[in-house]
Amino acid sequence: MVYDLILKNVKAFTVSGPFEGDIAIKDGKIAKIGGDIQEQANKVIDLTGKYVVPGLIDGHTHMEFPFMKEVTADDFYYGTRAAVAGGVTTIVDFITPAKGQDLLSAYEQWRSNADPKVISDYGLHMIIRESNTKILEQIPEIINKGVVSFKLFMAYKNEFMLSDGELYKLIKRINDFGGVIGIHAENGEIINELIQQFVSEGKIEPIYHYYSRPDIMEIEATNRIASIASMLGKDVKMYIVHTSTGEAVDIMSSYRKQGFKFYNETVPHYLTLNTDFLKRPDGYRYVMSPPLRSDEQRTKLWMRLASGDIFTVGSDHCVYSDAQKKRYREEVPPFHEIPNGVPGTETILPILFYYGVKKGIIGMERFIEVTSYNPARLFGLYPRKGTIMPGSDADFAVIDPNRKVRISADVLHSNINYTIYEGMEVEGWNIMTIRRGEIVYEEGQVIGKKGSGKYIPGKTPVLV
Ligand code: URP
Ligand code: ZN
Ligand code: ZN
Ligand code: ZN
Repeated sequence: MVYDLILKNVKAFTVSGPFEGDIAIKDGKIAKIGGDIQEQANKVIDLTGKYVVPGLIDGHTHMEFPFMKEVTADDFYYGTRAAVAGGVTTIVDFITPAKGQDLLSAYEQWRSNADPKVISDYGLHMIIRESNTKILEQIPEIINKGVVSFKLFMAYKNEFMLSDGELYKLIKRINDFGGVIGIHAENGEIINELIQQFVSEGKIEPIYHYYSRPDIMEIEATNRIASIASMLGKDVKMYIVHTSTGEAVDIMSSYRKQGFKFYNETVPHYLTLNTDFLKRPDGYRYVMSPPLRSDEQRTKLWMRLASGDIFTVGSDHCVYSDAQKKRYREEVPPFHEIPNGVPGTETILPILFYYGVKKGIIGMERFIEVTSYNPARLFGLYPRKGTIMPGSDADFAVIDPNRKVRISADVLHSNINYTIYEGMEVEGWNIMTIRRGEIVYEEGQVIGKKGSGKYIPGKTPVLV
């Protein structure tokens, strides 16, 4: 047999432990893993001294996302360029139906937006913002299309927020068909009150975004949704998206100890940045929900990442240009009018690798668990994605563990001219991305063709 590609002398990381040797690839799949593969190949790459990890699965992106009167600046082309440059070979993007739009037509719309543009592979989640008969009816049909995970909101009043009754009804329905429920857990009613109060007092700077969404808003909502979902039994598969507090992790962990399949996702910016960023002149760039929190919360999150209590790390990649963030004004608009969201898919790898692995807080096993293995299992992509074993897709990120990089917009690939990590010096960088056996990124250059990514339908999630 002549392989398409052999990666020689790799140090690879899998959940069953690291191994050193060679990986042979044929027809986009991992064909063989061994000590020293001597057979022929069309191409051989020597990766001595580099780390090979499963291609990252960014389970939280918003490409071409219509939100807060803007559409995000990264479409599926720019967004997946950034993704593959950061070692992400699969994104899972949120289909966002317009108000009144049915789920199937929103699914078709997302496929036709994504298919001609994607460079990474992609899966889809479905946002549900209303609970009428038609929407409830379409849930099993949507799951049959491979959209097995959903997002329901407890915040963004008058936009996405659902009542407790609606949440109950939707969780029940999604669970009846085996779907996974993602929850944006913040108390939208009280946040709305706090926003009105601050605005009426003329308190409009970006820092009031944080004061209007204190930690307890996430903790209360997490407690409430865990209680509501627990009424429906231990089969319910639920995770809190973009968790920003240690307490919200502990709530889900305590249910998990009782046998519930309740999990948390966190996001690199909650691990690395704090509330002070909202006080800077460019503080508007750091507006996302939930907001950046205290250093104390950052430490709590790192501890829970290290202990395994945090299940996945996604980017919440939701990019607005400076002009969009400022709503095309000279002045920064009042905090509650700044579109919520920040870039992140390209920097998951260097942030977790440098601040987590290199600093000795997490090991490589945890790194690959939260960046590929667990998201693959949670979103029904495992074992096609999320692992290095024969038969799986040949998706890899190749890390140079010693490469020093000063992060700036110049070295990144989004469709904007800033990054929230501007000036940060990291050690460890993705130097090559292989997606289904094809090199799609190498040393600063995205080589993968627009539209060469594939839709990967989700199957039944594999969770213990
Ligand atoms: O601020 C954020 N997170 N924007 C994206 C929408 C969401 O809630 O995930
Ligand atoms: Zn959210
Ligand atoms: Zn999001
Ligand atoms: Zn408003």
